[in-house]
Amino acid sequence: MAEKTWVRMVTAQTPTNIAVIKYWGKRDETLILPVNDSISVTLDPAHLCTTTTVAVSPSFDQDRMWLNGKEISLSGGRYQNCLREIRARACAVEDKEKGIKIAKKDWEKLHLHVASYNNFPTAAGLASSAAGFACLVFALAKLMNAKEDNSELSAIARQGSGSACRSLFGGFVKWIMGKAEDGSDSLAVQLVDEKHWDELVIIIAVVSSRQKETSSTTGMRDSVETSLLLQHRAKEVVPKRIKQMEEAIKNRDFGSFAQLSCADSNQFHAVCLDTCPPIFYMNDTSHRIISCVEKWNCSEGTPQVAYTFDAGPNAVLIAHNRKAATQLMQKLLFCFPPSSDADLNSYVIGDKSILKDAG
Ligand code: DP6
Repeated sequence: MAEKTWVRMVTAQTPTNIAVIKYWGKRDETLILPVNDSISVTLDPAHLCTTTTVAVSPSFDQDRMWLNGKEISLSGGRYQNCLREIRARACAVEDKEKGIKIAKKDWEKLHLHVASYNNFPTAAGLASSAAGFACLVFALAKLMNAKEDNSELSAIARQGSGSACRSLFGGFVKWIMGKAEDGSDSLAVQLVDEKHWDELVIIIAVVSSRQKETSSTTGMRDSVETSLLLQHRAKEVVPKRIKQMEEAIKNRDFGSFAQLSCADSNQFHAVCLDTCPPIFYMNDTSHRIISCVEKWNCSEGTPQVAYTFDAGPNAVLIAHNRKAATQLMQKLLFCFPPSSDADLNSYVIGDKSILKDAG
């Protein structure tokens, strides 16, 4: 008769985050320690998030992972670092009902299966490792009964992908770069929760669905090695901006928030241009969106919309409120009508609907 076996499973869901003060550059590539603090806003999980199920069973003979239904290798250093760190913190588990009893030392021998899904179109170029690693670490911590809080877990998710550490919290989140050589104080803290500034509406304009040519990891390595502007930014500019951004968020001061977000995005892309060889993440459509927002903000006298671009041409637009978001959508539709050649789709985040307008 076959021996009775069991499977213990945990499912978690983690949204992605968008930096308004960017992380760009590592001082330690293995531990993923940044050259500056960064601040992000976590998106509504209804729109852009990763759902991950982790399972453990004595019948599994190796660690395996599936991403959007396709098996991927877990042998990469980043996955291995996260698995090792969580296994080291695993505690005993007992579930009498299901007949499961796992001693602390058993976790060393037991194998894991991981299935992860993104709820956003992967082809849209929005796939982010941030939600993925945050969700993996969070789910594994629950499965293995680790007692660490979300900040402590963020220091593990960071070793999967830097920006992942900020996805362990909702609202506005700060990744403190830390000073310790072992990276133990390089972790994320929540500045304010999602209710603090809930009138903001985030719109993602998908400019191109193509995969970026230079990954963030490679791009920031080249910037650290060659860009003088990056050194100046990390030492002189970001420390002041972080303080100003924290104030703007605390006071819900949209004018300062927009000015700082746009300036920081532009400086990040200036660093990319200052890198040898230069990196071009934005394209003509991205530049047209910037001009459109700048002109509108200028004509209103006070900013209505902030823009920020990560390592790609897609625009993340943060509107002051629903009225500004509606006007922004009208302007985008006017500038990029559905029949136009510009490859632009707009997704409204922070609302129940995802509007696919053009392209
Ligand atoms: C431009 O976190 O993807 O989005 O740590 O090498 O995995 P690795 O890089 P990643 O870089 C994100 C860069 C950014 C800015 C940001 O999110 O702060």
